Amino acid sequence: MSSRKFFVGGNWKMNGDKETLGELIMTLNTASLNDEAEVVCGAPSIYLDYVRSKLDQRIGVAAQNCYKVPKGAFTGEISPAMIKDCGIDWVILGHSERRHVFGESDELIGQKVAHCLENDLCVIACIGEKLEEREAGTTEDVVFEQTKVIADNVKDWAHVVLAYEPVWAIGTGKTATPDQAQEVHEKLREWLRENVSDAVAGSVRIIYGGSVTGGNCKELAAQADIDGFLVGGASLKPEFVDIINARS
Ligand code: PGA
Repeated sequence: MSSRKFFVGGNWKMNGDKETLGELIMTLNTASLNDEAEVVCGAPSIYLDYVRSKLDQRIGVAAQNCYKVPKGAFTGEISPAMIKDCGIDWVILGHSERRHVFGESDELIGQKVAHCLENDLCVIACIGEKLEEREAGTTEDVVFEQTKVIADNVKDWAHVVLAYEPVWAIGTGKTATPDQAQEVHEKLREWLRENVSDAVAGSVRIIYGGSVTGGNCKELAAQADIDGFLVGGASLKPEFVDIINARS
């Protein structure tokens, strides 16, 4: 296994309320979690403050999106400065739902990445191909292009986790096989080696997302280039603990 610290992000998306999230937080706070895993929960923006105040400090919190400037007339948006002000250290950017439901471009995602890192907010940067792109054999082209726009906006990779999330696997129950995921992760690391540096390729966590469950996490976590997960549906359930402990 590599020296990269195992990283498990939960992406709660637009789910939960104070009562149900409070119960989930209790479960996480009292669970026995692998010390070797870094855990971050992505909460809806309106609950960021609530979640940070309740969740044990050994677990990080992430916003699920933010805007590319510190403040101003941008109705409905939140800034990295506001996220930091709530004691939150992470943000998820470029999630496929932001890209494909809300039409965010690579360019906008790149600008957000740059602004977050300038403001010391750590970024879980998401990339991934659609089913038709995989079937057309363009998976590498798509994920390399998305990664390039992110990479062009990163000065310090210490604060970035790259999340490979094939769109066809998100929320569908169709998990990528360990081989399929490993193949793309390995190619992404190779791309980083050629286009950024050897050191970055060796140190950046590349995590997998898309229908990860308590049942399939161990086999995925055993792959050489899979350094953790971004978990949607299963992060709202007690089985999230099993996923955090996938390498225990
Ligand atoms: P899923 O979502 O685990 O429900 O497939 C993953 C994600 O969207 O990050």
